[in-house]
Amino acid sequence: MENFAFYNPVKILFGKGQIANIAAEIPAKAKILLTYGGGSIKTNGVYEQVKAALTGFEVLEFGGIEANPHLETLLKAVEIARSQQVDFLLAVGGGSVLDGTKFIAAAIPFEGDPWDILAKQAPVTAAVPFGAVLTLPATGSEMNTNSVVTKWETQEKLFFASPLVFPKFSVLDPETTFSLPIRQVSNGIVDAYTHVMEQYLTYPVNAPLQDRMAESILQTLIAEAPKTLANLHDYESRANVMWCATMALNGLIGVGVPQDWATHMIGHELTALHGIDHAQTLAIVLPNMLDVKRDRKRQKLLQYAERVWGLVDGTEESRIDQAIAKTRDFFESVGVKTHLSDYGVGLDVIPTIIDRFEKRGFVALGENLDVTPQVVEKVLTLCA
Ligand code: NZQ
Ligand code: ZN
Repeated sequence: MENFAFYNPVKILFGKGQIANIAAEIPAKAKILLTYGGGSIKTNGVYEQVKAALTGFEVLEFGGIEANPHLETLLKAVEIARSQQVDFLLAVGGGSVLDGTKFIAAAIPFEGDPWDILAKQAPVTAAVPFGAVLTLPATGSEMNTNSVVTKWETQEKLFFASPLVFPKFSVLDPETTFSLPIRQVSNGIVDAYTHVMEQYLTYPVNAPLQDRMAESILQTLIAEAPKTLANLHDYESRANVMWCATMALNGLIGVGVPQDWATHMIGHELTALHGIDHAQTLAIVLPNMLDVKRDRKRQKLLQYAERVWGLVDGTEESRIDQAIAKTRDFFESVGVKTHLSDYGVGLDVIPTIIDRFEKRGFVALGENLDVTPQVVEKVLTLCA
């Protein structure tokens, strides 16, 4: 196992009715900016619950944060927060609202162009504290330090991470997710699954606990996905999916082990250039990334085949083939298509992505730093 430091201070309030308890987590006299997305919270009762819980606080509102949040939109919130001297943010929505709010939190005290936080990885030295009410299980943003923001003007989707943007608390009430369109439920399952794979499907470093935690999240998602999709108001299965998504990317399963993330880096380009949903891009890329990197990932692919899919018969090559096919079939079974052509995108997207990676110096991705632009081209060619 590799050395690691693990720190995660996020207080989780899990379960029905937990929105009512947020006031105790917010400093008395805080001036709050409530951030939200395109309006789902106004039609599913979440907004009313939040407002009721905030009785007595001074609350400003900023709505309209889009999926794959835009820098241009978020900067408007930064301006409001600065001029109104907001000192606490409350993000209510999916990963995009949470990620956008992390950016707002870091940008408010930032001197200079806030886009530098992402484009130049300028250090974040201060951030306004914030809490979250999560309404879409998928990203893990509710319990991690990551934020992904899109600059609309240039169609660039970049990320930053800082311990200063851990939420102070996150509410995970499965009932708030009952209003999700089926496409977003499916997306969330695929995103969480792929987060585990990015941290697990690399090479062994004798970290059996991390391996078994990762495998248990994958197995739980495989077991719960059909239940939550068959009955969109099944509290128990939605609760299980929700906790899986949080555990998949709160740092715990990734300690002391190599991590990949090349699938995500390619996926972000497909979203930036073609607007394909985040999870859809992962469903397209991951099976082919596993195929192309099968030699360096061989031991973990065989372990995955056996422990997650019960594949023990046949040659190594055929077990790996079957494990990759099972992965693809799982994504398709939850309703997420796995080919670029399913989204009307052709292979002419490849040169632009390669060019962007070369310009940004993304020339050595993956756990072995061997996912070069040539490898990315090979993977994307298989995604047709
Ligand atoms: O905007 P509203 O009206 O709220 O509608 C949203 C949005 O249209 C809707 N929605 C959310 N909760 C709902 C709901 N509709 C009905 N009922 C509810 N309860 O769902 C749509 C998608 O929301 P979004 O927040 O964009 O989805 P998701 O949570 O999948 O977030 C995706 C973003 O997170 C980033 C992605 O790149 C993408 O930008 N990621 C963030 C990560 C992180 N912070 O660690 C890691 C991930 O790998 C990912 O990159
Ligand atoms: Zn993701």
